[in-house]
Order: sequence, then C-alpha cells, then structure tokens
Amino acid sequence: MDALDLIVKRASVPPRLHEDSDLDDAALDQIFAATVTAPDHGLVRPYRFITIRGAARNRLGDVFAEAALMRNPDAEPGVIEKDRLKPLRSPVVVAVIACITPDHPKAPPVEQMLTAGMAGYNMVLAAQAIGLGGIWLTGAPTYDAHVQAALGVQASEELLGFVYLGQPKRDFKAPRRPDWRDFVTSWDE
Ligand SMILES: Cc1cc2nc3c(=O)[nH]c(=O)nc-3n(C[C@H](O)[C@H](O)[C@H](O)COP(=O)(O)O)c2cc1C
Repeated sequence: MDALDLIVKRASVPPRLHEDSDLDDAALDQIFAATVTAPDHGLVRPYRFITIRGAARNRLGDVFAEAALMRNPDAEPGVIEKDRLKPLRSPVVVAVIACITPDHPKAPPVEQMLTAGMAGYNMVLAAQAIGLGGIWLTGAPTYDAHVQAALGVQASEELLGFVYLGQPKRDFKAPRRPDWRDFVTSWDE
C-alpha cells in the first residue's frame, strides 16, 4: 500500500476487534520509530509514551475501577467492572502524554500540543501500515486525577489518552469520509 492509500483508507480498529495475542517487540519498535517523526517546531520532543502490556493491564484496570468509584461512589458494580476491563481488551495499551515547555522561545504550548497529537496519530497510522489495528481513546479515565497520578503524569504534563493496539480479528473498511470541498476555501484577495 502506498502512503496516500494508507492515509485515505485509514480506519481505527476498536479493541473488540483485537486479538488477545501480544504484539512482538519488533512491531512496537516500528510503530514508535514512526511515532517520533511528528513535525516538531524547535525540536522540543514534547511527548512521552508509556506501554502497558500483559499483567500491567490488570493493574491499570484496577486503577480505572478505583477512579470510577471515586468519581461516582454510588455507581452500579457493573459500571465499575466495565472500566476495570477496559485495558484488557487489547494486548498493548499506550498512554500518550504531552510534555509541554511553557516558555519555549520558538514553540508556544499550542504548537507543542499539536506535535504530541501528531505523534499519537503517527502511532495509529503506523500500526495500520504494518497490518495491526489501533484506536485512540480517552473517556473519563484520561481526565481522572487518580489515573494520571498512577501513571506518574506530572503537573506540567497532559495525559492525551490511550492508544489501544492489537492484531485485527478481521479486515476492516475505511469509514465514509467527509467531502474535502466542504472544508476548503480559496482566499483570492
Ligand atoms: C484525542 C482523541 C480521543 C478520542 N477518544 C475517543 C473515545 O474516547 N471514544 C471513542 O469512541 N472515540 C474516540 N476517539 C475517536 C477514535 O479514535 C476514532 O477516530 C473514531 O472512532 C473514528 O474512527 P476513524 O479514526 O476510523 O475515523 C478519539 C480520537 C482522538 C483523536
């Protein structure tokens, strides 16, 4: 598949379509090598990533469940259990963290945040390029202080979500995309 085809046919693959089998380190090596090519004004490298694999996913699930209970002490047990199981749906979960330098001489925080976002996008795209499936998900756990603390996210950092990666159970089709003409105008004067 050429590069344009890869982008045009890109499709997120949700965790329910991921096989349980772990990914090999070589695949993650390729994915992360692509991740850190994101355009980066001032070469700040305003990102870091935490992989959560194997049994560590159980611990993250416990943290998600603890956080859900703290957010809503009256929640039905089923609701809490749903959060506990979230990290177990895919063999590899990657926390995407933006590390912003507030007073950088070249790149204001918004540019650094864009770089971290593009790095996360690279991760999803690279996964597809090597035949894997990935999706970027946030939800309440991402914005929860208990989850952030457990992952060691510092006050100067921002947890941008979790990329779930796995071997897809079946082929997936690109969703219908908007017509680009609805978003592009020409400025003539
Ligand atoms: C920062 C970010 C957070 C997201 N969080 C969620 C989420 O929590 N739940 C969800 O269903 N989709 C979420 N999405 C959207 C999915 O990643 C995905 O883009 C969407 O399902 C559409 O599929 P597509 O990427 O194939 O177009 C998020 C996307 C981004 C960029």
